Amino acid sequence: MSRPEPLLSCCLSAGYPDKPDILKQAKLEVYAEEVLGLAGPSGSGKSTISLAILRLLSRSCRVEGSIRFCGQDLTRLSERAMREIRGRDIALVLQSPLSALNPALPIATQLREAWRSHARTDAQAEAGRIRELLENVQLPTEASFLRRYPRQLSVGQAQRVLIAMALLHRPKLLIADEPTSSLCSCFTRYIRRSAWASSCSASVPSPG
Ligand SMILES: Nc1ncnc2c1ncn2[C@@H]1O[C@H](COP(=O)(O)OP(=O)(O)O)[C@@H](O)[C@H]1O
Ligand SMILES: [Mg+2]
Repeated sequence: MSRPEPLLSCCLSAGYPDKPDILKQAKLEVYAEEVLGLAGPSGSGKSTISLAILRLLSRSCRVEGSIRFCGQDLTRLSERAMREIRGRDIALVLQSPLSALNPALPIATQLREAWRSHARTDAQAEAGRIRELLENVQLPTEASFLRRYPRQLSVGQAQRVLIAMALLHRPKLLIADEPTSSLCSCFTRYIRRSAWASSCSASVPSPG
């Protein structure tokens, strides 16, 4: 029986002006229900490839190659179409949890905005889904916690909020950039056992 099409298949080169390329035809394929781990030293391009897939790199970065996701070539989509995909079909947990959250808004507002960016439901369904996700990542669900601003969270709590946010819309693909770096070791073990149990891995070579 032939293998189904990969969920994501890309081959990317990327670099900044007057610097050696960060990615040189970096190829990866991810199939549904598969976990792919990228390993490599600091500066080898792990975050760059995550951001390139979602077309979130700064304009100064030259990106070439192909990104096929669910039968679509993401390099050819309009920015508006990409916004529909980000957070709904492909979610990203960024590397620095506190800087990924908006410092001026309570986390309840940020979770609600993340939900409403792709869903139209009544307030009860919205609150139910947010509560379910917070419980999944072992965060408190009471109003006093939800009223907190990011500065009132520990880094580990902020990272869990980001993980909950990323899972809100049950994305087909979850990209997690060092998702366990700020978590206590018991929660890291829990994450590894459940969502990110490594079943296969690829590695990014050192630059240069
Ligand atoms: N805006 C930028 N301008 C120039 N170089 C950058 C920029 N962002 C990242 N880089 C460089 O790209 C390389 C890869 O970075 P990154 O993808 O963050 O690596 P990793 O996530 O593997 O640690 C690094 O050498 C980094 O300094
Ligand atoms: Mg990185």
